Amino acid sequence: SAPLRTHAAARGKFIGTALATGPLSNETSYRDLAATEFSQVTAENAMKWESTEPSQGQFTFSGADAVVNFATQNNQQVHGHTLVWHSQTPGWVQGLGATAMRAAMQNHISQVVGRYANNPAVVSWDVVNEVFDDNGGMRTSFWYNTLGQSYIADAFRAARAADPNARLCINDYNVEGVNAKSTAMYNLVSSLRQQGVPVDCVGLQGHLAIQYGFPGDLQQNLQRFADLGVQVRITELDVRMQTPRDATKDATQATYYRNVVNACNAVTACAGVTIWGFTDKYSWVPDTFPGQGAALIYNESYQQKPSYTAVHDAL
Ligand code: XIL
Repeated sequence: SAPLRTHAAARGKFIGTALATGPLSNETSYRDLAATEFSQVTAENAMKWESTEPSQGQFTFSGADAVVNFATQNNQQVHGHTLVWHSQTPGWVQGLGATAMRAAMQNHISQVVGRYANNPAVVSWDVVNEVFDDNGGMRTSFWYNTLGQSYIADAFRAARAADPNARLCINDYNVEGVNAKSTAMYNLVSSLRQQGVPVDCVGLQGHLAIQYGFPGDLQQNLQRFADLGVQVRITELDVRMQTPRDATKDATQATYYRNVVNACNAVTACAGVTIWGFTDKYSWVPDTFPGQGAALIYNESYQQKPSYTAVHDAL
C-alpha cells in the first residue's frame, strides 16, 4: 500500500523522521525507507551546535549538508534542529560572559540559518529547545543563568533576520498534555507574540512511554496553542517500553502512535508529525533510558511493526 508520505500529503500534513548521518551515508535499507516513507526530515544531531560550530567561528556543515542534500534529492522538507539549547553545546560557549555569549549566539544563528536561507528545502527551525523545567519555571541553563530570559527573544529575532521566510519554533518535552510546563510554554508564546517577537510555531517533542500513560488532552493542548495563532507540530515522537517487546506492549504502543496522528489530524494548525527515527536499530532510547527501547515503527531488521500500521491507517 502507499507510503506514509502519500497519505499525509492527502491531508495536507507532513510525516517526518529524524535522520542519523551514519546509516544515511552507508546503509541502503535505511536510505530507501527514509526516502520513501517520509516527507520531512530533521537532523538527529548534525545541525546541533557541537556539530556545526565546535570551536568558535569554525563552522562545519558536512553532516548538516548531507541531510539537506538527501532531502533535496527526495523532495523532502528539512526542519532545522536546533539553534539554542543547553545540551550538545560546546564548553567554549558555556564559559562566555554575558556580552560575548549573546554575540556568539547571534553569530551562530546568523551563520547556520543563513547557510540555508536560500535553500527551498529548509523551511523551519527549532530556535530554542527545552527552555522550561518540568514545574513550569525557566530551566536554569547556562543560557538563562548568564543572559536571563531575554536570550529567547534575542534568538528568535536573530533567526528572523537570518531567514525572513523560515518558520520559527519553540520546542520542548513533557508538554504534550495540559500541565504546568505546557501552560508555562503557552504563556511565554503568548507574551512573546504580544511583544512582536517572531515565534511562528510550537513543537511538542512527544517522547512518550507506554508505562506512563497517554496524554489524553493532547488534542486540546494543540488547539489552545493553535488559538494563539501559531502552527503546532509533533517534533520527536517515539513511544518507548520496557524491553523486550511483546504483542501486548506493541498493541499499546500502536494506540499511542494512532492517538498522536489522530490529534494532529483533528487540529487544522497542526502541520504534521515527526518520528524520532524510524527503525529500532537506530534510536536514542536504549542509550538514554536503560532497559527501555523498541520505541519506533520498524524493528531492527526494517520490518514494519504494529505501530507502523497504526500510523499508516490513521493518516
Ligand atoms: C538526542 C539524539 O537522538 C541522540 O542521538 C543524542 O545523543 C542526544 O540527543 N530532545 C531533543 C533531541 O531535542 O535533540 C534529542 O536527540 C532527544 C531529546
